[in-house]
Amino acid sequence: RFDSIPLAPPDSILGLTEAFLADPRTEKMNLTVGVYKDASGLTPILKCVKAAERKLVETEKTKGYLPIDGFPDYRSHVQKLVFSDQIPADRIAMVQAPGGTGALRVAGEFLATQCSPTRVFLPNPTWANHNAIMRSAGLDVETYSYLANDRRSLDFDALLDDLNTKTRPGDAVLMHACCHNPTGVDPTADQWKEIAKVMGSRGLIPLLDFAYQGFGDGLDEDAVGLRTILGQCPEAIVCSSYSKNFGLYSERVGAVGLVAANAAAATAALSQLKVTVRANYSNPPRHGGAIVATILDDDELTQMWKSELEEMRLRITHLRTQFVEGMSKQAGAPDFSSLLNQKGMFSYSGLTAMQADELRSKHGVYVVGSGRINVAGMDEKRMDWLCSAVADVVG
Ligand code: LMR
Repeated sequence: RFDSIPLAPPDSILGLTEAFLADPRTEKMNLTVGVYKDASGLTPILKCVKAAERKLVETEKTKGYLPIDGFPDYRSHVQKLVFSDQIPADRIAMVQAPGGTGALRVAGEFLATQCSPTRVFLPNPTWANHNAIMRSAGLDVETYSYLANDRRSLDFDALLDDLNTKTRPGDAVLMHACCHNPTGVDPTADQWKEIAKVMGSRGLIPLLDFAYQGFGDGLDEDAVGLRTILGQCPEAIVCSSYSKNFGLYSERVGAVGLVAANAAAATAALSQLKVTVRANYSNPPRHGGAIVATILDDDELTQMWKSELEEMRLRITHLRTQFVEGMSKQAGAPDFSSLLNQKGMFSYSGLTAMQADELRSKHGVYVVGSGRINVAGMDEKRMDWLCSAVADVVG
């Protein structure tokens, strides 16, 4: 019984933060989990969020349950953010979910129970949790090529080749709509066109993970891949998260946006999504969705949010540049300039698992074993220290 249960390994991302917190050294740096930090090392609550919360304290009348599919106002704002006006509203089934992870789990279970065959293709590499979520949802997991052998660029030919030869019509293909996690390597606009053509002509179901809207090039710019895919595929599922772009990590705010070929199919899909939600967590938490809706209901707060989001994006770009420049001054270190093309919070450093281990044990710098570095967690005041630690393990 319980006494024969084996110990599970620590989580490959969140487990490292536990180890970081337990590390007694004072000179240490946590570049693991994708959480933004400001110049003082804090993950700030955005000013627009504080203002919305003050409003909510004054005006909120109840903590009664939300509907199974979530807060209606939140759902319509998210629909606009994700889909703009590209898809008629009656073809969209939108469900609030607890974070991007909750959205992926609901989408995975929907695919497993309502669509067959039930295979999902994940890029190689991908976010460490995708595999576990999709398997738990009941899907068979396959992979398609993504990163080239240089570990710095997209292997576009291999990606297309895999989509063309490994998949069957009706398979789901998970794609990072922008800011690929863990590599920061995204397809170009022209490459998205090619991908969309193959997805459409082979009858594949796009499952788009959209967790970093606004962290690549901007809110609209980061939706280019998604819009291109939706231009070719009549059906798709978009799992979005507002953890990062509203800084609402612990409030668990996300959504599943399902695009159906017609209004009747969208209505049926929504009813099935609700069945999945009810059997998992009944209905979503209120507070985070209420914050997002309060901000997007108000022009002034929306402007404030957009400028705070831009500030975060520009700071990450600045840190990435500073890191690459810092590495170029380290004698004997390899060239890190390809990191400058990467988008979003993360950079794929090219560090091996052994180098990542050494960086942690010798210098107290924590990065994910794949070599992923959370650039948004860097501290500009200690950039030289960080660069010499990295140079020490790669040199
Ligand atoms: C990450 O990739 O670091 C984030 O998405 C947080 C997480 O849950 O892993």
